Amino acid sequence: MSRSAHPAGPRHADVLPEGHYTAPPTDLNALDAKVWSRTVARNADGAVTVGGIEVARLAEEFGTPAYILDESDFRARCRAWAHAFGPDADVFYAGKAFLSRAVVRWLKEEGLNLDVCSGGELTCALDAGMPAERIAFHGNNKTVAEIERAVTVGVGRIVLDSFQEIARVAHVAQRLGKRQRVQIRVTVGVEAHTHEFIATAHEDQKFGIALAGGEAAEAVRRALALDGLELIGIHSHIGSQIFDMAGFEVSARRVVGLLAAVRDEHGVELPEIDLGGGLGIAYTSDDDPREPHEIAKALGDIVTRECEAAGLATPRISVEPGRAIVGPSAFTLYEVGTIKPLEGLRTYVSVDGGMSDNIRTALYDAEYSVALVSRASDAEPMLVRVVGKHCESGDIVVRDAFLPSDLAPGDLIAVPATGAYCRSMASNYNHALRPPVVAVRDGQARVIVRRETEEDLLRLDVG
Ligand code: LLP
Repeated sequence: MSRSAHPAGPRHADVLPEGHYTAPPTDLNALDAKVWSRTVARNADGAVTVGGIEVARLAEEFGTPAYILDESDFRARCRAWAHAFGPDADVFYAGKAFLSRAVVRWLKEEGLNLDVCSGGELTCALDAGMPAERIAFHGNNKTVAEIERAVTVGVGRIVLDSFQEIARVAHVAQRLGKRQRVQIRVTVGVEAHTHEFIATAHEDQKFGIALAGGEAAEAVRRALALDGLELIGIHSHIGSQIFDMAGFEVSARRVVGLLAAVRDEHGVELPEIDLGGGLGIAYTSDDDPREPHEIAKALGDIVTRECEAAGLATPRISVEPGRAIVGPSAFTLYEVGTIKPLEGLRTYVSVDGGMSDNIRTALYDAEYSVALVSRASDAEPMLVRVVGKHCESGDIVVRDAFLPSDLAPGDLIAVPATGAYCRSMASNYNHALRPPVVAVRDGQARVIVRRETEEDLLRLDVG
């Protein structure tokens, strides 16, 4: 839509500039259950509550910006995944999405396993009491120290990512007098329909060992020959924020193809396959994610069918959802500061956080939605861009959204579906203090990761 043809300003649906949006929603007070965690609701006064607590109370007690994590929602998603896959499969929560000691305890209680990809995540997991055998250790460049630690504590599996790592882990295990359970991560050559930076199954990237050209078969050969390793299966992770099951189906088919080739060559049936994580969630009302039971059925069916065709016993399947569990469970609560209407364009709404607490918009062009949560409003919708307080123009939290035109400094707004890869990728850019994570459940709120303080910043700066 050309702006010059519609010079009247940004507040009406027929004069909107170009952007990633459709029409303004009919009811700005409505909270789409697709993007908000389960206990989020608007009370009779129009204020939004989570876990039975008004967000304004949370802002008062814990400050803004803050990540508000709905514990019941998180636990319900864990249970849904565990139940969907059942006792003959394993669900590993991908800790990179968001990890804290409280979350590890919830995972443990809900019967999930944990995927870690660094020594730091491993420390967090062990410190919070996750049994080592329920931990999978990932990474394309694990240090020898990390490998030693993982083998020593007895992690349930190390996912091998290169030929060098096969030798390295075998060597460490042998030196420590252990036999380490491992999987080999393969790249299956699938083009996942997602942002380039979060697609991982095409061949021209850093992860895994290619199936094509026989490299993965060679990796299996080497792993089977080494005493320090017990090869339990093959791993594939095709990327993240994926809605289309077709990529997983191709991946499953190719991984089963490798299992059949291994059986033919070595007479060994590897007992497990891991199909990774990457299941998409709704960031806006336009997204339509699959439910865990649909995913479990689709993956289970394809693996069973392919194995039957190849004459293999069906292996134990594991999956590693991160975003699909924690993503929808949290929102970021901000206070509105400066509001700058740009005539004929849009209104810039500045909040007290920004790219330091959510880098995803800048990094992946991610889309988010936003709502006024401290009160309801019947004012007309205005097209807004929610921006942060950092010193760069790419500091955008929500590129295009609608908020009521009576929005004022001091109002609270919230961006839903920020549970995954927001706190875990947060930075101190401009010496910003990383926000706390506040867990809310049944009318109780408690800090599970506290807000950084200026003393925290100075403590690292040794002068
Ligand atoms: N398993 C493996 C081996 C992975 O590499 C990942 C994500 C997962 C599981 C979990 O994927 P999920 O279900 O959470 O999509 N920072 C990016 C995402 C990077 C994901 C890296 N690996 C983002 O903010 O979208």
